[in-house]
Amino acid sequence: MAPESRLHNPLLHPILFTFQLLQWLVSKILAPTPPDPQAVLARPRIAVIGAGITGVTSAAHCIGHGFDVVIFEAGGEDQVGGIWSKVNSTSGLQIHSMMYRFHPSVVWEEGYPDKQQIVSQVRQLWKRYGLDGRTKFNAKVTKVFQDDRGRWIVNDATNGRFDGVISAIGTCGDPKVPDMPGMDKFKGEIHHSSDLTGKKAKGKTIIVIGGGASAVEALEFATQEGAEKIYILARSEKWIIPRNPVWNALLALNIFGQETKLSWIPETLLRKLFYRDLQDLAPADKGIFTDTPMVNSEVMAQIRSGKAEWLRCDIERFDEQGVLVNRRDKGVESGGPGHQELIEGDMVVMATGYKRPELSFLPDSCFEEPYAPPNWYLQTFPPSHPSLSCINCTYQSAIGTVGNWHIGIYTRIFLMFLIDPLTRPSPFWMRRWIDMTRFLKSSSPVGPFEFFTYLELVWWFVFCIAFNPFRWKWALFVFFGLGFVLPNRVVGAEEMIRNELRVGHPDGGRDLGQSV
Ligand SMILES: Cc1cc2nc3c(=O)[nH]c(=O)nc-3n(C[C@H](O)[C@H](O)[C@H](O)COP(=O)(O)OP(=O)(O)OC[C@H]3O[C@@H](n4cnc5c(N)ncnc54)[C@H](O)[C@@H]3O)c2cc1C
Ligand SMILES: NC(=O)c1ccc[n+]([C@@H]2O[C@H](COP(=O)([O-])OP(=O)(O)OC[C@H]3O[C@@H](n4cnc5c(N)ncnc54)[C@H](OP(=O)(O)O)[C@@H]3O)[C@@H](O)[C@H]2O)c1
Repeated sequence: MAPESRLHNPLLHPILFTFQLLQWLVSKILAPTPPDPQAVLARPRIAVIGAGITGVTSAAHCIGHGFDVVIFEAGGEDQVGGIWSKVNSTSGLQIHSMMYRFHPSVVWEEGYPDKQQIVSQVRQLWKRYGLDGRTKFNAKVTKVFQDDRGRWIVNDATNGRFDGVISAIGTCGDPKVPDMPGMDKFKGEIHHSSDLTGKKAKGKTIIVIGGGASAVEALEFATQEGAEKIYILARSEKWIIPRNPVWNALLALNIFGQETKLSWIPETLLRKLFYRDLQDLAPADKGIFTDTPMVNSEVMAQIRSGKAEWLRCDIERFDEQGVLVNRRDKGVESGGPGHQELIEGDMVVMATGYKRPELSFLPDSCFEEPYAPPNWYLQTFPPSHPSLSCINCTYQSAIGTVGNWHIGIYTRIFLMFLIDPLTRPSPFWMRRWIDMTRFLKSSSPVGPFEFFTYLELVWWFVFCIAFNPFRWKWALFVFFGLGFVLPNRVVGAEEMIRNELRVGHPDGGRDLGQSV
């Protein structure tokens, strides 16, 4: 059990207690043992960029399997936890924490942990694996390049040379606040949705601009604080799905990872069983498997009670009293005809999202069309660089969460490529895999890598391992983090043979893919 986790009483909370017990078992079986602080760690040496859940977790896996790692974080030490360290104290997981087990040693106390618990779990993980002594803060990465022996240099050579780089810079950078006409005239307060801690909403009318997950969170904040009325001004349509792990898991098990002829089934069920009298809010012609849905049940209750109103509209301008909008009917696209309406309020919350952090520090070869991100091998490896992995940062939409066990799987695929030359894919085959995925998802209304579900991810991993006999010995390790000794011994023996025969690259050429 993670040291700071509180164990529930099995008589008072049997379900939560069982959930904790299962997590404890998973941790015992699957979490790699943290290294001895005095241990000399082996090569490959890995640079991890970013100290959010993805960076800390992948670094914990690397070091847990005995490899040296350095984390580069643009912010200060208070930034461990990434975006979660910056959001409102009222923020929390919308999706169930069963689907947010970013490391096997994480132990959640409840189904829907809040920001404080999430940051605490990341920080515990960071300390447990001795990563506190291996993190460089205020170290924004601006350049990643190779020396003449193919080893990676991060920013400059004083940081040393690395055999591989994991980029974990996330998708939510600085808050995005679009400049809208008349904002300066508005007499009330204007805040970004990530800056609501301590703001007073009691008795006020709150206008939320945006129709994404942050808008729903702002609605929850406003109702908790006792706001009088909340308007959500949504420009585009998004599906809302119930906060229910069974629903969420079932939707995440679409192996095709795209809209199919059968998608009407979950869409109709959602309309009939969840939206019910509010079916007008369900998107008219946008499939559920095309964009990340919002996970929330509270929003429906607030709309039914009359406390909240969800308006499909474009923003025209602000005025002193509120926001002038063009309200549209269902099915009319943004910019289409409607009627003007002034929405009056005391506070505007800009739930308009975040700027996407730039991957432009990577070499130009990572951005060659038609294989620019997210169109990469397993969506993560730029073709031609098997020693570079960008975990979770090319993510666009999905049903599932960013913070689940796939972080470990991706990290171990990356370790397999670094350690074992016979598994390292050649650029030719990385590109063919991308072409094949494009073909298989050619009927998807969105790009092949712009939407995925968990089962599709599993299919990708199976494909990566099962189709190459040299990778079979790694299967258990890649999927579960177990059984590292056997493939590692085989690689050692192969290396001795290669040395005797004097074939192969002197450094192992860890960025040189050869395999199918
Ligand atoms: C309010 C809110 C609620 C959310 N709720 C959920 C949820 O319920 N479920 C879900 O799946 N997702 C949710 N998300 C999405 C969230 O982004 C992911 O869950 C997850 O936290 C992403 O982690 P990450 O480590 O990949 O990225 P981040 O947490 O963004 O961390 C990236 C880190 O990289 C650093 N960095 C960036 N660029 C550089 C650089 N050039 N050099 C060095 N360091 C750099 C940043 O400073 C940051 O610390 C939520 C997001 C927000 C904003
Ligand atoms: N607890 C949670 O699960 C949770 C909570 C918050 C955030 N998140 C995650 O964090 C990420 C960001 O979410 P987010 O809701 O902050 O951002 P988002 O998903 O990008 O949504 C931004 C919203 O603002 C609208 N918008 C942007 N500019 C606008 C403009 N000029 N005029 C009118 N509307 C405008 C967008 O409309 P268009 O769609 O038309 O552009 C969209 O509806 C997502 O990955 C989300 O899943 C999760």
